Amino acid sequence: MEDADSFLFKFKGYHFGREELDIGFIENLDDFVIRESDVFIITYPKSGTSWFQQLLSLIYFEEHRKGIGNLETVDRVPFFEYNFRKMDFVERPSPRLFATHLPYYLVPRGLKNKKAKIIYIYRNPKDVMCSYFHFSKNVTLQVTSSFEEFMEQFLEGKVLGSLWFDHIKGWYEHKSLFNIQFLMYEEMKKDLKGSLSKVCKFLGKELSEEEMDAIVRQATFQNMKYDPRANYKNIIKTRYGLEAKGHFLRKGTIGDWKNHMTVEQNERFDKIFQRKMKDFPLKFIWDM
Ligand code: A3P
Repeated sequence: MEDADSFLFKFKGYHFGREELDIGFIENLDDFVIRESDVFIITYPKSGTSWFQQLLSLIYFEEHRKGIGNLETVDRVPFFEYNFRKMDFVERPSPRLFATHLPYYLVPRGLKNKKAKIIYIYRNPKDVMCSYFHFSKNVTLQVTSSFEEFMEQFLEGKVLGSLWFDHIKGWYEHKSLFNIQFLMYEEMKKDLKGSLSKVCKFLGKELSEEEMDAIVRQATFQNMKYDPRANYKNIIKTRYGLEAKGHFLRKGTIGDWKNHMTVEQNERFDKIFQRKMKDFPLKFIWDM
């Protein structure tokens, strides 16, 4: 264990965020008892975690679907390693739904025994990087650097979540150990109902057409942006004690990197991407 800097905490080669981190919990993650009914959303940061927290909550909780439950999505689908609400996960009734940014090698042993279900959401890394830059600069206020400097940090993995390339490759290359479904942010964006059907099939959840339509309606970017249960406003206010300059739900588009990256930056990124992701079978969507 060592300090990466004041915000990051490095453990077994992976950068956690220091805030809200229970070090005792992460040191004993391997032994955390997994139930068959557990569902984990796994993402690299800024890949659509909050979107999927909303979707999962809508799939599992009728009262959320009907708009009568007033719980925030982080209360229904809490972060596993950042336990904002200090919940007792061991006592939590089934089905337990979690979101996490953990790399494949740090998750509880029970997941490696294919006990529970995992949905891995991935997004093209140029948009991830741009989303991450705004998030760090305007929401959590942890970055004061320029986009250029942030890009270096991102490409060196000196951010919460470490290196994007390692995260997705680690999970994909070890997928046979897990009961896991990969889902692409951009495909959700293009056809949310199609992605939802795929996920429901994987989860063994049968929903009617009307229920599916209600979920799609409540999981659109516009709806979530103004839905206090889903837009993270309260969390940001309580965690950082301020009104953020930016929104957690910022743009929610595909290809915003084109508004940020110069031609040279893009060429450099492409070169690194081609080298690191050579022979990687999953495809990415870079623009609409
Ligand atoms: P942008 O910053 O590009 O807008 P995470 O939840 O993993 O931190 O990811 C946040 C990103 O997902 C943000 O991207 C956010 O706007 C986007 N997002 C959240 N909900 C969304 C939705 N319903 N539709 C499209 N994008 C969404």
